[in-house]
Order: sequence, then C-alpha cells, then structure tokens
Amino acid sequence: MADLLVLGIETTCDETAAAVVARSPSGAGDIRSSIIRSQIEAHSPYGGVVPEIAARAHVEVLDRVIAEAMHEANVSFHDLAAVAAAAGPGLIGGVIVGLTTAKAIALASHRPLVAVNHLEAHALTARLTDGVAFPYLLLLVSGGHTQLLAVEEVGRYRRLGTTLDDAIGEAFDKVAKMLSLPYPGGPEVEQQALLGDPERFTFPRPMHGRREPDFSLSGLKTAVRLEADRLAPLSDQDVADLCASFQAAVVDVVTDRVRAGARMFRERLGTTPTALVVAGGVAANGAIKAALQKAAAELGTRLAVPPPILCTDNGAMIAWAGAERLARGLTDPLHISPRARWPLDPAPAPVRA
Ligand code: KG4
Ligand code: ZN
Repeated sequence: MADLLVLGIETTCDETAAAVVARSPSGAGDIRSSIIRSQIEAHSPYGGVVPEIAARAHVEVLDRVIAEAMHEANVSFHDLAAVAAAAGPGLIGGVIVGLTTAKAIALASHRPLVAVNHLEAHALTARLTDGVAFPYLLLLVSGGHTQLLAVEEVGRYRRLGTTLDDAIGEAFDKVAKMLSLPYPGGPEVEQQALLGDPERFTFPRPMHGRREPDFSLSGLKTAVRLEADRLAPLSDQDVADLCASFQAAVVDVVTDRVRAGARMFRERLGTTPTALVVAGGVAANGAIKAALQKAAAELGTRLAVPPPILCTDNGAMIAWAGAERLARGLTDPLHISPRARWPLDPAPAPVRA
C-alpha cells in the first residue's frame, strides 16, 4: 500500500494555513509542506482577533496558501488521497471559508473530504511528531480550551477535566493586555517572565490539591489585575515581575492538575498513559514544558510536546488528523456543516462545582 497524501486546510482563527502530509501504511507521518500566513498584523491594533477581519483575510489569501503548499510538496490535486479542512470549532466565518474551499477541491478533483475537528488535530499532532501510541493523557491548552483528556483512539476521547472559567491561553492574553503588552499575549508574557522575579508576588493557585482534574484561572487573573492596579504606574521591572509571578502560579497549577489527571486516567482506564502529551498554543511555553517534563518522569511516563510551530495553529495538524481518519475509513459527505462549537467528547461530563 502506498502512502496517503492529504492536503489540510486551517482557517478557524487568525492563521490561514495549508499543508500536505503523507501517512505511511505503518502509521508514520511526514510533512511534505506547511504554509502558515499569520494575521497578527491585521488584528494587533484591536488587541485581539476581530472575527470579520479574520474571515475576509482568509478569503483573500487561502487560494495562494494552498497553491504554495501544493507547489512545495510537488504534488497535484490528483495525487491526493483526500482533502481535509478544520470544520470547527472556531470563528464561524473563517471555518466556512476553509471548509467550502476544501469541498470545492474535493468535488472538482473527485477526492474524499475529511471534516476535521480542530481540537482533534491538536490532540493527534504528537502521533505525527513523536509517534505516540494510544492511550495517552492529553493536556489541551489553546486560546479557547483547557482540558485534560484520555485519548484512546482516533475519535475516542474521554474528558477528565476542564476549566470552569477562562482557558489558560486566554488568561495569558488577558494578563498581557492589562499590562499593555502587545497581542498575542502568551509569548510576550513568557518573554517578560524571563526578566522578572517569580517570587515577588504570591498569587493564588486555584484548584490546587483538588481530586478532580479541573482548572480555574479567573481568580488568578483578577489577583494580577489587583496587584497591577495597586502598583500603577508600572515600571518595566514591575511588568516583568508580575509576568514571572503569574507564570509561576500557572506552572504550579498545571503541574498539580496534570498529576490529578494522571490519577484519574489510571482509575478510569486501568493503565498508565503511554505519554503525557501537551497540545495547543500554550504548549509552546518553555516554563510549562520544563515543569511537565519533571512531572511526567515522576508519573512514570514520558512527555511529548510537538515543536512550537506545530503547537500553534497550522495546516499540517489538520492534514495529519485527516490522514488518520482516512486510514480508518472516516470521510465526510460534501453537505457537512461548519461548526462554531464542537466538543471532542460526544457527551461531555457535567461541570463539577
Ligand atoms: O492553539 P492556538 O494557536 O489557537 C487556538 O486554537 O486557540 O493557541 C493560541 C493561544 C493564545 O492564547 C496564545 O497566547 C497562547 O496560545 N500561547 C502561549 C504561548 N504561545 C502561544 N501562551 C503561553 N506561552 C507561550 N509561549
Ligand atoms: Zn488551535
């Protein structure tokens, strides 16, 4: 059997991306091309993503981005085994642009369509980069999601814990905004934290020690706001110290919650995870990665974190998830609808108080 070549299209947020990925019959992946056009400049005057601007920008550049990805991979549409696009969750205008384009290519070149869940794509990236086997413990930390999941198979996800309020990436972005750091905030806060004192402020560690592996970030974010208000006007050192102390609190919370998640994983699945996988934009954070490296070793498993360029949104993860689904015969009809909301687990556990 030959390698499956899949084109992947990502337009759910503020990156327009396309990639061609190959999946061998043994399940190994190879990125043949990956083109990412970030819209950061278009959104930065507003301090966050403006959905209408994002949708228009996707329309303007997607065709070129796809052409570049195909050219770089040196393939034509007829060489493809399938066309995959993120069909949600995300900003609906952008999702419509990407999914409709994928449908048009699939229809015109008589190739199957795979409608990929953007979160599933983040969840499966470590199989592409690190060949991780099922079942594994996944910490999914993107701009909109913070979840601990047991990944049992393609399409089989058990949610163990989630955030009761803000996502971690969102907390990074909001802290950056309150400290007048540029958008997007996560990498800025991480940079500032390198220059600051993580012990100058003792911020709360919400949910620390709880049995259920849930998260809560809004109290921590508010504590940073109150401290920043108290100190105003802020010196450069104040900003760096606030970032360092905030990030130190996040690191503690994440490590503690991952331990709780690993305990629940063992209880529910009766086995140790093959790996602790971190996915989503926040996985690019070096301090969080370093702390989780230690935690994984203590838990008797290994840490797998895709390289930063595959942690933030990209087309390769969509193509790969498409190839994983295609290999299992999972394709979608051309009338499938885009979805603004699309939870990974079919019946999410009720939120615990
Ligand atoms: O997965 P992603 O690229 O987009 C979504 O699907 O949401 O994640 C974006 C999020 C943003 O909140 C961004 O601030 C955060 O990931 N992020 C980081 C870092 N790089 C990106 N947060 C902390 N440290 C970073 N180095
Ligand atoms: Zn994402």
